[in-house]
Amino acid sequence: MATFVLGVCLLFSRPQLTASRPTLSEKNYMFSVSPANEEEIKNESTRHDYKNGTSQYLPHIIIIGVRKGGTRALLEMLSLHSDISAAESEIHFFDSEDQYKRGLSWYLGQMPFSYSHQFTVEKTPAYFTSNIVPERIYNMNSTIRLLLILRDPIERVLSDYTQVFYNHKQKNKTYPPVEDLLLKNGELNTDYKAINRSLYYSFMENWLTYFPLKNIHIVDGDRLIKEPFPEMQKVERFLNLSPQINASNFYFNKTKGFYCLRDGGRDRCLHESKGRAHPQIKPYLLGKLRDYFDEPNKKFFELVGQKFDWL
Ligand SMILES: *[C@@H]1O[C@H](CO)[C@@H](O)[C@H](O)[C@H]1NC(C)=O
Ligand SMILES: *[C@@H]1O[C@H](CO)[C@@H](O)[C@H](O)[C@H]1NC(C)=O
Ligand SMILES: *[C@@H]1O[C@H](CO)[C@@H](O)[C@H](O)[C@H]1NC(C)=O
Ligand SMILES: *[C@@H]1O[C@H](CO)[C@@H](O)[C@H](O)[C@H]1NC(C)=O
Ligand SMILES: *[C@@H]1O[C@H](CO)[C@@H](O)[C@H](O)[C@H]1NC(C)=O
Ligand SMILES: *[C@@H]1O[C@H](CO)[C@@H](O)[C@H](O)[C@H]1NC(C)=O
Ligand SMILES: *[C@@H]1O[C@H](CO)[C@@H](O)[C@H](O)[C@H]1NC(C)=O
Repeated sequence: MATFVLGVCLLFSRPQLTASRPTLSEKNYMFSVSPANEEEIKNESTRHDYKNGTSQYLPHIIIIGVRKGGTRALLEMLSLHSDISAAESEIHFFDSEDQYKRGLSWYLGQMPFSYSHQFTVEKTPAYFTSNIVPERIYNMNSTIRLLLILRDPIERVLSDYTQVFYNHKQKNKTYPPVEDLLLKNGELNTDYKAINRSLYYSFMENWLTYFPLKNIHIVDGDRLIKEPFPEMQKVERFLNLSPQINASNFYFNKTKGFYCLRDGGRDRCLHESKGRAHPQIKPYLLGKLRDYFDEPNKKFFELVGQKFDWL
């Protein structure tokens, strides 16, 4: 009981507590607050005040997708900001029944250790295209801020294919050529999952029944790759972060053909699996894809009141 009371006091006095710089080597936690139920977790949205001044918080921001949209790049770039604390791996809490069953306390336990002034961020690209996820996130935090990074739907299809192709190759398994998946009886195979996942408007409609558009910021993934700095400035503004990320955080790597990040003298590039060349598809097939996505794309632009430079 005494521990619990002390823990609660700590939660309220955290601003003073973190004012002094934490000692990184101190690994033991002082008090462990074990909320009795989910409701309390939601109210506190935090647990464990560690001696070094960090705690785990439920996410304040979630990068919801889209798969192959550039979510890893976005997360890495956002992490340049000192007020951001990001979960390293994809948690798949809201889209996986097995994980979701474990409850919010499990989810909280997956979060990174953050200081109280930081925003906690999680990214799981599969969230965007799952029908059940918006409601579940809403039930956790109806005012949460969401980041969605999209790229040209056709590019996304090809990138989706490329990833699965390489996953098979790694396991020494064969995977059909892209045409075999895109076409069925000479027509576009709209049952192909990669095509379905590029129908952004159908998923967006579902998200918008739970969240107002002003709480969802859409990052242009095609632009983020070509010119990361302006896109990241928009993200900072949306999240009300101090303008901290600057042009010198990015440098172009000619060998890679992509920007890499410079973080206080530390250079890092995205994993080599990112930015792989896509398969070339024949012009008539590209034409079919363009025809197919023309209408859904327009619907999407209308839905979000924003246009994108898609094929
Ligand atoms: C603070 O302590 C926790 C728990 O031991 C540890 O996981 C985390 O890495 C520490 N954070 C810092 C910044 O040292
Ligand atoms: C959680 O917060 C709400 C509103 O602030 C309050 O009505 C409710 O009693 C709290 N629940 C618990 C378990 O503390
Ligand atoms: C919900 O998200 C908003 C926006 O990030 C944040 O300000 C708020 O603290 C969050 N609420 C909880 C309970 O985590
Ligand atoms: C991969 O498959 C090829 C051809 O079937 C075979 O020769 C090779 O030994 C396999 N490699 C591995 C690592 O399984
Ligand atoms: C595409 O996905 C949506 C949403 O999951 C689903 O309702 C629809 O039936 C799918 N369309 C096709 C052609 O498979
Ligand atoms: C850009 O940000 C870095 C820290 O990430 C800082 O060291 C540098 O002075 C900044 N440059 C400019 C031009 O503001
Ligand atoms: C540029 O990219 C290449 C190929 O991925 C890599 O080997 C090299 O270390 C990178 N150089 C810098 C300065 O980032």
